[in-house]
Amino acid sequence: MSVQTLHIPRQQSRLDDERRAQFERSGFLVLPGFLPADLVARLKPEVDRWVDTGLRARSIAAVLAPETHGVPEVMELDLPAHGELLAHQPLLRIIEQLMGPRFAFHHMHSDRHAPDLPGKPWHHDYEQRVQSERTYSMVHTLHYLDGMDPDMAGLALLPGSHREIAEKDARGHLGTEELPGEVYLEDLPPGSTVLVHSALFHARRAKPDYPGRPRYFVDASYCQAGTLWPPVKPYWREMLARARHRRLGGPEWPDLFSERHFSDYVKPE
Ligand SMILES: [Fe+2]
Repeated sequence: MSVQTLHIPRQQSRLDDERRAQFERSGFLVLPGFLPADLVARLKPEVDRWVDTGLRARSIAAVLAPETHGVPEVMELDLPAHGELLAHQPLLRIIEQLMGPRFAFHHMHSDRHAPDLPGKPWHHDYEQRVQSERTYSMVHTLHYLDGMDPDMAGLALLPGSHREIAEKDARGHLGTEELPGEVYLEDLPPGSTVLVHSALFHARRAKPDYPGRPRYFVDASYCQAGTLWPPVKPYWREMLARARHRRLGGPEWPDLFSERHFSDYVKPE
């Protein structure tokens, strides 16, 4: 499959039938340089702050040991540009065309991948307590603020695998090795977004022999209305409340930060 055929031109948020069919078939869309340069310029120092001042570590601790750490004082979406990114209207418009107008924000992560960060084995990120069907869609928007170049870890995707009913780690034993039929992304301009169906198998393939630059990476996920989704953060109610309080997304997306699309939080075993 040509990766080029899956690219959407810069800033375009109207998907034609062919693009939508491509997403259905392959499970991802590549949006090179999709994010406005001024938004990217404001996001990067926020990522630095998030990583360098310990906010990221605190947010992870609050997931791992909520009884000790409580609700984080600062969440990703409290950082102004991060809040703007997760409700970036052209992005919400694309998601709307893929799963209809009723969808909710699920969660967000922000990180700066060091060049020597190990790879991440093949996995998917579709949230379902028992992986049993794919009736409702969930998507992850993977934002590469500085883009990606061949000196950085790349993103391997397995087209069509989002239609399998499988555990998240069903291909974990394969590590990050190259798989037949995979699409490998390693060269994208700054401000690029890769939109994947959350059930699509993907891997981060490290390049330990290249010094490279750090890879600025923010991801946010969204889930279609119609079922109850398991939250991944114990403080998910507070997270949604803060987003509503900040009026992220404006009045047009009443489902975006609504609690009613979620089941109770259950700590993973
Ligand atoms: Fe992932």
